[in-house]
Amino acid sequence: MKNNFLRAEILRLKKEKNAIILAHYYTLPEVQEVADYVGDSLGLAQKAASTDADIILFAGVHFMAETAKILNPTRKVLVPDMNAGCVLADSCEAAKLAAFKSKHPEHKVLSYVNCSAAVKALSDLIVTSGNALKLVNKLPEDEKIIFVPDGNLGDYINRETGRDMILWDGACAIHDNFEVEQLEKIKKQYPKAIVVAHPECRREILEKVDFVGSTAAMLKFISQSDEKEFIVVTESGILYEMQKQNPDKKLHTLYNGDPKHDCVNMKKNNLENIYNALLNESPELIMDEELRTKALLPIQKMLEMSIS
Ligand code: 13P
Repeated sequence: MKNNFLRAEILRLKKEKNAIILAHYYTLPEVQEVADYVGDSLGLAQKAASTDADIILFAGVHFMAETAKILNPTRKVLVPDMNAGCVLADSCEAAKLAAFKSKHPEHKVLSYVNCSAAVKALSDLIVTSGNALKLVNKLPEDEKIIFVPDGNLGDYINRETGRDMILWDGACAIHDNFEVEQLEKIKKQYPKAIVVAHPECRREILEKVDFVGSTAAMLKFISQSDEKEFIVVTESGILYEMQKQNPDKKLHTLYNGDPKHDCVNMKKNNLENIYNALLNESPELIMDEELRTKALLPIQKMLEMSIS
C-alpha cells in the first residue's frame, strides 16, 4: 500500500517537475521500476549528458551523481541519500594522487569513473568498465599511464591490451571479495552454467570465467546467448533486469542472494527517499564551478572517444 502510494507520487512529481530518474543496475528492483533509464556507468553518463529534463534524480552512488552534475551544470541534480558513497572512489584521495602524479610527471592519469570529481579534475581521461579496453587501445602505444583507483580493473586492462600502466591500490569492496573457492563450489553445483564476471573482480576469478564485461555488457552477452544457465559474478542487483530480459534463463549469483555481498550504498536508494528528494528538491548536489570545469574535460574526452 505504502509503496503503491510512493510509486504513484514519484510518477506524478516527475511529470510535474520535468524530472528524470537515472538508476544504476545495482539499485533495488522497486527503484529500477520508477526510473526513466537504468544502465551501467557509461550509459548513465551518456544519458545524463543528453537529457533535457530540469531535474536529474540520480539513484546510484555519489560519484555517479557528480558525473551527472559535471555534465549538466544548469540542471538540478538530486541525490536521495548523500551518504551513498563508494569505497573504491574513497580509496583515491585527490591530494595523494596529486603527490603521486608529481613524482611521475611524464605519465598521463587515466581514471576509472568510480572516483571523486576532485580526482577527475586531475585526470587526462576517464574510462568506465564498458569502454576501458576500447579507449586504452586508442591511446599511443608508448603512452605512460597511471591508472586509478581500481587495481583489479587496471590489471585486467594491462593484460588485455599489453600495457604496463602503474596501478593504484584500490578495490571495490564487493567485487574484490568474491572467492575462488566459492566460484569453484557453485560451478560444481551448476556444471552447465556459463560464468560471466565484472572486471573489478580479482585476476584469479577472471581467469576462471567465460566472459568479462561491465554490467551492461554482461546483460547483453546473456540476452544474446543461446545458453540457458549462467553464474553472474557481480553485485546481485543486476539480476533483476537480467531476469526480466531473459525470463527463460536460469541465473545464479556467487552467493545466491546473501545480502552481505550486496553494495550497501546502492541499496540506500529507496522509494521513500526518492519521493522526498523529488518533493523537496533536496538533497541537491552542488559543485564548485572551477572544480566542475576541470573535471568536465576528461569526461568529455571519454564521451567523444566512446562514439568514434
Ligand atoms: P559498470 O556500471 O561500469 O558496470 O560498473 C559498475 C560499478 O561501479 C561496479 O562497482
